[in-house]
Amino acid sequence: MSHEMSRRGFLGATVAAAAAPSADLMRLANAAQPAAALAKGPIVIASANGVAAVTRAMELLRGGSDPLDAVVEGVRINEDDPKDGSVGFGGGPNEDGEVELDASVMHGPTHKAGAVAALRRVRHAASVAQRVMQRTDHVLIVGEGALRFARAHGFPEENLLTESAREAWLRWKETHSDDDDWLPPASQPATRQHSRLPREGPIERDYGTINCLALTAAGDLAGTTTTSGLANKIAGRVGDSPIIGAGLYVDNGVGAAGSTGRGEANLQNCSSFLIVELMRNGKSPQDACLEALKRIADHTEPRLRDRNGRPAFGLAFYALARDGRHGSATMWSGGNYAVHDGTDAKLVASAYLYKQPGNS
Ligand code: GLY
Repeated sequence: MSHEMSRRGFLGATVAAAAAPSADLMRLANAAQPAAALAKGPIVIASANGVAAVTRAMELLRGGSDPLDAVVEGVRINEDDPKDGSVGFGGGPNEDGEVELDASVMHGPTHKAGAVAALRRVRHAASVAQRVMQRTDHVLIVGEGALRFARAHGFPEENLLTESAREAWLRWKETHSDDDDWLPPASQPATRQHSRLPREGPIERDYGTINCLALTAAGDLAGTTTTSGLANKIAGRVGDSPIIGAGLYVDNGVGAAGSTGRGEANLQNCSSFLIVELMRNGKSPQDACLEALKRIADHTEPRLRDRNGRPAFGLAFYALARDGRHGSATMWSGGNYAVHDGTDAKLVASAYLYKQPGNS
């Protein structure tokens, strides 16, 4: 919607957005499973960048590992991989060129959680989050305190900015006139932000992240979410990944949920907690993820809607129920999630709320 659009035009777009999901809603048969057809765990699911992670976590579960140890070890593959520019070493930096990591863990059997935010110089943020859970009476430690805590526990320090991430950051720095996160006061027109809206579909921003959830054969759940967060963010920005109830939530009696994508939208809606509560009330994992996305779509401010009134950003949810059912949904079509069901690791199509323009 352009800033010239009238209030009537805006309301029209809003109504279109509210009406759009039912017309536009697509359910992909292979992402929905009837409860009775599935055995219980071990099952591991993750965001689409997590095929190796679910494979490693499944190996560990088969060897009798605790589910939290399994998922933290699984996502360590991404945290170590400089080619995964959304997590750990090689993650996208903030606008000052400094990599700042966010991560959370949650352990179903004890209902304990740990998290770090804006952690610099330590690549295994999920492991530091697990250490917060195990060795402190706190849940979330941020910034300099998180680095000092990691240092005290012997985590190695290093420069996390790879050459390719530095070059990408420098390109952004040299060309970023309409693509940063600073907004003028509400009294002034946000022309840069409004210039995004005449297009259809999501704006490409690199939010990255890996979420990984595990269920053991005994029915215990755990999860982790780890990320370098939004690339080129304002220094100190914290996304949804380290916030329990937003980027991750586990209730051992019900299920687990996590997210990747635009953290701000999730933070405003506490979606992982919502998804677990929707599963508690009988929704399938996939339907719970779709419902959370619909709530976010309804709450999206005009500045962040495309010309059809739909959220102009990507966001994905993953959910694993205690009975072994799993599902995922994305704001826009074309998403997948990784599943290891005990037989093999594969990518499964996510359900979605809106069909991406040009996506068949
Ligand atoms: N979901 C990752 C982030 O927004 O930082």
